[in-house]
Amino acid sequence: MYSLSEVARVHTTLGPTDVDHLQRLVANWGLLADLSFTDLLLFAATDAGSPRQYVVLAQVRPTTSQTLYRADLVGTLVSADERPLVDRCHRSGEATGADEVVQGEDVPHSVRAVPVRHGGRVIGVLISEGLPSGGRRHGELETAYLNAFGHLARMVAVGEFPFPGTEDPLKELPRVGDGVILLDADGRVQYSSPNAVSALHRLGVVIQVEGATFGQLGLDEGVVRTSIGQRRPATLELSRGTHTNVLVHAVPLLRRNAVVGVLLVLRDISDLRRLDRLLVSKDTHIREIHHRVKNNLQTISSLLRIQARRLSLPEAREAIEESVRRIGSIAVVHETLSREAGDDVPFSDIARPIIRMVEESLVSPERPVLFRLVGDTPTLPADVATPLALVLTELLQNTVDHAYRGPAAVTDGAEPGEVVVTVTGPVELDGRASVTVEVCDDGVGLPQGFSLDTSTGLGLSIVRTLVCNELEGSIVLTDRADGQPGTLVTVTVPVTRDVD
Ligand SMILES: Nc1ncnc2c1ncn2[C@@H]1O[C@H](COP(=O)(O)OP(=O)(O)OP(=O)(O)O)[C@@H](O)[C@H]1O
Ligand SMILES: [Mg+2]
Repeated sequence: MYSLSEVARVHTTLGPTDVDHLQRLVANWGLLADLSFTDLLLFAATDAGSPRQYVVLAQVRPTTSQTLYRADLVGTLVSADERPLVDRCHRSGEATGADEVVQGEDVPHSVRAVPVRHGGRVIGVLISEGLPSGGRRHGELETAYLNAFGHLARMVAVGEFPFPGTEDPLKELPRVGDGVILLDADGRVQYSSPNAVSALHRLGVVIQVEGATFGQLGLDEGVVRTSIGQRRPATLELSRGTHTNVLVHAVPLLRRNAVVGVLLVLRDISDLRRLDRLLVSKDTHIREIHHRVKNNLQTISSLLRIQARRLSLPEAREAIEESVRRIGSIAVVHETLSREAGDDVPFSDIARPIIRMVEESLVSPERPVLFRLVGDTPTLPADVATPLALVLTELLQNTVDHAYRGPAAVTDGAEPGEVVVTVTGPVELDGRASVTVEVCDDGVGLPQGFSLDTSTGLGLSIVRTLVCNELEGSIVLTDRADGQPGTLVTVTVPVTRDVD
């Protein structure tokens, strides 16, 4: 299916502002098709000179009546001879008066042509095509709808409809299904469709609406006042309790620049609002669950700590304390998720508490270590944040355990050690957004002949498994690149899922 702008570009010489005007018209014309009970076709002259030719830029079917066209006609070219009414309207700039009945393919059609004016020029022709009424008298609803259509068609012909504006030209007016109300120039209800009466009923209006203003009906008059006072469309949501929400679109009906009435199109958005509320409460539930998981992890940590205190073997105690820290780093992620809406966590929100945890529990008074967090502040999905929090805990734990301890480390009177955590990203790497975390210390450096593949420590095995298997990333441990003593650990992980 072609878009209006594509067809206009290929077949016509219409400029961008004309195309924008036609797009605004088409965004709103489902309503016009409903009000006129007809199919609408929008024609524009092609750039082929003679014989004159027209192209169908857009087509819409009514929801209030049967369609004459099962086929999609957008992009179809017709000659002036095939569509004499289009040609006549385009040349004269005049709407055809009463509906003309022409012999269609198999049944007679009632056709009406309306010039589409913009900036004083005719830039297209709107054709309204339906079954002829055959002398049948119109009912009240039909009369009111046709009346409103007549107003809007006249506004199209003089360039007053669609309204210019800064709003998105593709934002659509609703169809008539949920109700239509016609007001006179003073804002009094002239006609209300049965669906509109029901919608007002749901909003608590139980009195006769005809002849009353919105104010007299106990409804907010703002939307009516704006559309009459400022001669521009306006939208307002009316609600009653938490179960009825109706969006009211007000379209002023103009004649020679004066407001002669207002067309109100209602849209029942109660279901939409209910879903909104449901989503908000789901989000609250998910956060509550993260909060409980965090509490449970803290309880586990406390139990382990109690057990550690009863042990006399220092290694056993240390092993349990390490587990407590690992559990603590997972709790940090859940704590953050219990505060954030959605599934994403800012990296700094997990890095800072982890650094604090390591500072509090590990650093010895003989050799203080300062930690710094620098670089970008990426946001991570929860399933990346949890493993990465564990990885960071292990790497920071290692700096304190190994970089500033042991026979090679200077202790007494030395400057405090400095560990810098640098975050970079997200940057594109092999087609995936990736984040790099560097942990750089100024300690004793890696042991001679150290290799990650042959290292048997538990900490780095956890890191390797999480980074390489779970996060599909990479890890490198080296001496510092600037020739200073110390170790640099670089972890790079993709933060978006591989779509292939
Ligand atoms: N920042 C560092 N500076 C110097 N050596 C390090 C550093 N990080 C790791 N190492 C070396 O790598 C070895 C393996 O570390 P790993 O975390 O796997 O085990 P561990 O720390 O010895 O034990 P665990 O983490 O299970 O308590 C360490 O024993 C240490 O020799
Ligand atoms: Mg370790």
